[in-house]
Amino acid sequence: MSVKVIVGTQWGDEGKGKVIDIMASRSDVVVRAQGGDNAGHTVVVGSEVYKLHLIPSGILYPDCLCLIGCGIVVNPKSLLAEIDGLKARGITCSNLRIDPRAHIVMPWHVLIDRYSEELRGKGEIGTTNRGIGPCYMDKSERSGIRFYDLIHPEVLKEKIEQVGTVKNKLFTSIYGKEPLDLKAIYEEYTEYGKRLAGYAADVSVLTYNAIKAGKEVLLEGAQGALLDLDTGTYPYVTSSHPTAGGFCVGIGLGPTFIDEIIGATKAYTTRVGKGPFPTELFDEVGENIRIKGGEFGTTTGRPRRVGWFDAVIVRHAVRVNGLTSLSLNKLDTLSGLKTLKLCTGYKLPDGSVTTDFPPTIEELADCQPIYIEMEGWDEDISRMTSYDQLPQAVKAYIAKVEELCGVPVSNIGIGPDRAQNIERA
Ligand code: GDP
Ligand code: IMO
Ligand code: MG
Repeated sequence: MSVKVIVGTQWGDEGKGKVIDIMASRSDVVVRAQGGDNAGHTVVVGSEVYKLHLIPSGILYPDCLCLIGCGIVVNPKSLLAEIDGLKARGITCSNLRIDPRAHIVMPWHVLIDRYSEELRGKGEIGTTNRGIGPCYMDKSERSGIRFYDLIHPEVLKEKIEQVGTVKNKLFTSIYGKEPLDLKAIYEEYTEYGKRLAGYAADVSVLTYNAIKAGKEVLLEGAQGALLDLDTGTYPYVTSSHPTAGGFCVGIGLGPTFIDEIIGATKAYTTRVGKGPFPTELFDEVGENIRIKGGEFGTTTGRPRRVGWFDAVIVRHAVRVNGLTSLSLNKLDTLSGLKTLKLCTGYKLPDGSVTTDFPPTIEELADCQPIYIEMEGWDEDISRMTSYDQLPQAVKAYIAKVEELCGVPVSNIGIGPDRAQNIERA
């Protein structure tokens, strides 16, 4: 029996979906705890590519229970589209459960997300426009609509009238927009509720019971440490806590149940959306990595910004999550580069060096990355099947990442497919 966590260590898209899918093959339960359909997790099985947004990446295994915890914000329309898409490909989703406490992303949340970004102008966050922030705002303000409400039409009706009336005032008097048709929303969302009602279950209890019964449980993170609302690059962050502590809250599970916390890490760094990025590359090298690594957003299709591996960031993720090891993914993408750079620390304006990620973006703006250089490798490593087969330069790169981050690399990603993965004993 064990409880393992897979968490993003950078700005998301570190290959969490792939790692979860591999580990789910020997797990009984996979639980998502935070975020919503802003996440995009890719699982590749031969010629089949699955892009999952709300549904946990264990869904391809019919015997693996897939849970959506209370900390998730659920857009029922996109969840149903995801379920229908999977069903059309022969995946039943009968192993999916949703906590009644999970909050519902309503049409006004998506609109407020868009209007707020418009009003921010050049200072926009670059959100996924999925209404994630506004939904979490209502949750914190205690005016949110929850999954329980969605599947109980009489409760839903009252809440839509209550909350929707306030939102319409906001639309007409602040944003200068048309009010929403609350009756139409009620009718549409009651239908979603009818279709989703059978998935309701207390995820905290299910997870706890699975642990007590000695099952293998995986907690699947969305986003990454630097997108955390508190410890990320605020305000260029998401509105949840994509850290191991956040998962405990978003499931209703005490931290003492967790045995291992594995940080999914790209062998370089990427970011979508706005905000500071110390090791960002603006040259041909960056462009080559973007093309070779297929660095385009899973959810929005936006080109991802690309940069060198930044050990300051990953060390930050080690600390805020209590990581026990790393899964170093996409090493294959670096093949063919003559020289590789790794950022070991930041130089401050007074000439001193810090190895701790600064708390604010204002302080980060004064930081200059300090690099070491390592020899690259030319070999195609994407078909190798064991650690021993890897070229010496790859092993040296992995060892350097371990040394700089202070945790072992337990897993190595050498391609997008389920099979392109090397686990270290
Ligand atoms: P997630 O959000 O952390 O699940 O990551 P995404 O799925 O958004 O982005 C990771 C991308 O890299 C996807 O296209 C994956 O198929 C792909 N990927 C994952 N691991 C590897 C790897 O080791 N090598 C390569 N080349 N691609 C990978
Ligand atoms: P996965 O799980 C990468 C980013 C957005 C934006 C910021 C806020 O696939 O790693 P939001 O819509 O959440 O309010 O946007 O967060 N963002 C992600 N970036 N991967 C993700 O998820 C992300 N989810 C949100 O691009 O910068
Ligand atoms: Mg992603």
